[in-house]
Amino acid sequence: MPSLLLWDDQGLGKFDAWTNDLAYYPKSREWEILGKYGSDMVDQLPTNSAIIELGCGSLSKTAFLLANMAKQHRNIVYYALDVSDDALYTNLGVLKKQFAASRNIQIYGLVGTYSDCAEWLASTCFLPVCTVTFLWLGNSIANMTRDSASALMGKFRATCTKMSIDCNFLISADGCQVEDRILKAYDPVSGPSRVFLFHGLHHANRLLGQVAFKEAEWDAVPEWDTGENELRYYYVPKRDIQLEISGSRIKVKEREPVYYFMSGKWNEAQIAQIASQAGLNIGKIWRDASYEYGEYFGIVALHFVPYTKIHTKAITF
Ligand SMILES: C[S@@+](CC[C@H](N)C(=O)[O-])C[C@H]1O[C@@H](n2cnc3c(N)ncnc32)[C@H](O)[C@@H]1O
Repeated sequence: MPSLLLWDDQGLGKFDAWTNDLAYYPKSREWEILGKYGSDMVDQLPTNSAIIELGCGSLSKTAFLLANMAKQHRNIVYYALDVSDDALYTNLGVLKKQFAASRNIQIYGLVGTYSDCAEWLASTCFLPVCTVTFLWLGNSIANMTRDSASALMGKFRATCTKMSIDCNFLISADGCQVEDRILKAYDPVSGPSRVFLFHGLHHANRLLGQVAFKEAEWDAVPEWDTGENELRYYYVPKRDIQLEISGSRIKVKEREPVYYFMSGKWNEAQIAQIASQAGLNIGKIWRDASYEYGEYFGIVALHFVPYTKIHTKAITF
């Protein structure tokens, strides 16, 4: 099943509720990094920049970063992209009010998928800036395969090259490798994580206009892949199921796994490989303290990936 089924306005609400759960370590770790290094990250941005945020969600981290940019009088054209359209309108309304007095920051919204955004950018002949920075926060990059992430980043990079614009990414990636901690945070059996992780079935029912998937008949089963550092989720029926969808019958056998979601916990080497496959390099890394000291709870790393292939346009930090 497509993992995009997890995301709509309700899905985003359920996701945000889950991130407030104490067991969900990525949120506190990411805020720790932003709090400590947010102004350093903003220092890396050139004065006239466009920022395109991929999967902007609640915009709370964005508001924090933009406030730092406003303080430093950066001229920023900010575009927020998300598939969850009502939430995007509401959250952008709040953000616009917050920055209404700032003459340096312009705010726009883009409703659509990452691929829609790549197409939109490719069809935009001109952006009045010399650099585009793609913000990709909340470990969202790791909801796709490493190859797909590289391909998407490469597309954005190629488009920027065509427009003679520098291309940066500011990406937050969860590098936790502690299986127990991950499984506790991503527990599909109870609590707000379960509510979110089952949302795909409810969203599918809404799109189909019928209750094809009954939650009680399914488990959500996580599988931790130690070699790839990836947590993959499957919907697994508790018994043989016959789905009746738009006149077609689909049989799913008891315990037959149906893949629907992934959260990679990629380490620095894996992120570097994704970047290099896209023609990018890692420039600077900000980490939470415990990760640096190799303790259990060292989790989120923020990777600033500057474009370095075209040397005349390169930004090196
Ligand atoms: C893990 S959440 C992260 C939200 C936010 N960036 C943060 O750090 O809190 C992923 C966000 O990306 C959006 N999203 C997921 N898949 C997407 C896609 N293919 N295209 C555009 N947005 C997507 C979701 O609606 C959601 O807001």
